[in-house]
Amino acid sequence: MSTTPPGPNGIPVLGNGRKFASDPFQFMTACEDAYGDVVRLDLGPRQTYMLTNPRDVERLLVSEWAKFRKPDLDSAMDDLLGDGLLLSDRDTWEGQRELANPAFHARRVAGLDDVMVDHATDAVDDWTAGGQVDIHLQMARLTVRIIVSAMFGSDIDAATVRRVQENLEPVGQRFEPSPVRAIIPDWAPTAENRQFDAAVAELESVLDDILADRRGTAADPSHPDPAGDATGQELPMDLLSILLRARDRGEQTDRQLRDELMTILLAGHDTTALTLTYTYYLLSKHPEVRDRVHAEIDAIDGTPTAADAQQLDYLDNVLSEAMRLYPPVYTLFREPKTDVRIAGYRIPSGSVILLPQWAIHRSSRWYDDPEQFDPDRWSAERRRSRPRFSYFPFGAGPRHCIGKQLSLLEAKLIVATVGSQYELDYEGPEMDLRGSITMHPDHPMPMRVEPR
Ligand code: HEM
Repeated sequence: MSTTPPGPNGIPVLGNGRKFASDPFQFMTACEDAYGDVVRLDLGPRQTYMLTNPRDVERLLVSEWAKFRKPDLDSAMDDLLGDGLLLSDRDTWEGQRELANPAFHARRVAGLDDVMVDHATDAVDDWTAGGQVDIHLQMARLTVRIIVSAMFGSDIDAATVRRVQENLEPVGQRFEPSPVRAIIPDWAPTAENRQFDAAVAELESVLDDILADRRGTAADPSHPDPAGDATGQELPMDLLSILLRARDRGEQTDRQLRDELMTILLAGHDTTALTLTYTYYLLSKHPEVRDRVHAEIDAIDGTPTAADAQQLDYLDNVLSEAMRLYPPVYTLFREPKTDVRIAGYRIPSGSVILLPQWAIHRSSRWYDDPEQFDPDRWSAERRRSRPRFSYFPFGAGPRHCIGKQLSLLEAKLIVATVGSQYELDYEGPEMDLRGSITMHPDHPMPMRVEPR
């Protein structure tokens, strides 16, 4: 066997960078088709490999996870998210995850159902039957409001939601794949870098406002005693309250608090908004599936609750299938801490490894008719016929998504709330995708709002 994995030839200096940047999705699929389990890519100064076998996904994320770290690919990512839970290294990460876990506890998440439904009801109140909405924008605004309520215990007004939204645009652009960015330093005063810095500063000032709102009020949750306050009352367990108490005990710095809040603000809404956007797009293209979803939610008596959401088995399959075809996080990145051997090839320490949900979720090696939207492929029997790690929209192993249950509940309650009044018909062009930190539609997503 050759000691170097196979892979596409690149052009001088830019390697495969231009092809990857112009359409990362098509590029990853074509590489998986042509080269199989281990693919060598030429995407920059660091040696890069793509692994597409679920067996190796399991190895890197679960059984041998401690042998790999998250690579430092772009210093702008550090400027944005810093040492928050998503990017932090193992030593810091363990304590952070333990600290954050109670805010994501199943019982607490279930208790957020009314907040989710209230915000969804408010959002729909602004819609008019027969009118048109940009569903991606609507879902992004709605999920920002929900995450701020659910995790920071604060309510933000429509103007602040817009401020977050508008500043996410230049942030997203900064992380779109680019063949030349690797050779431009981050401090270079390009228009892109300047807009990025200004957007990060704006997002930080939104977080400062949220923090200022909480300080000095009767609801200020800072308290040195983690076991309860002097009156024996239960302490608030939203993430911001937990972090403020940790800071007051001297366990968190202001910088760590900022990094964690920024991480949750961004990771906690964008992915859920995308899942809903893709779900509505697919439902509109498949009216027979939409009818089944509506029949299921019509059986709910009154305002939907977390208990009702648990009964929405068909909607659960629809969301799984939407995230299979359109995984908001379309690839994970890892770096081996020491040289490792994968499928007979030596992968050196310090190289970058891609685990691409996009290519694995759409591979005919694991899925029949993989391009087809088929929620029934999530029946228990058909699931069993596939390797477990052929599907990992939320990652896997110790660093799997901490917000998985929250986002699934949120998505179900939003679909149930919207669907109790309206059905949505897509009126835009054939969907085009854009890669950034997450996978976005490359254009607005107009939907006609029809009363049901
Ligand atoms: C459909 C929605 C979501 C998707 C598809 C998604 C996807 C993911 C994925 C793939 C990872 C693993 C990253 C890796 O291993 O490198 C992850 C981690 C993470 N997610 Fe999510 N996520 C979603 C919703 C949320 C929500 C609602 C929150 C917060 C409220 C959140 C916060 C995080 C955090 C903090 C991590 C890092 C966890 C750790 O390393 O301990 N995510 N997410």
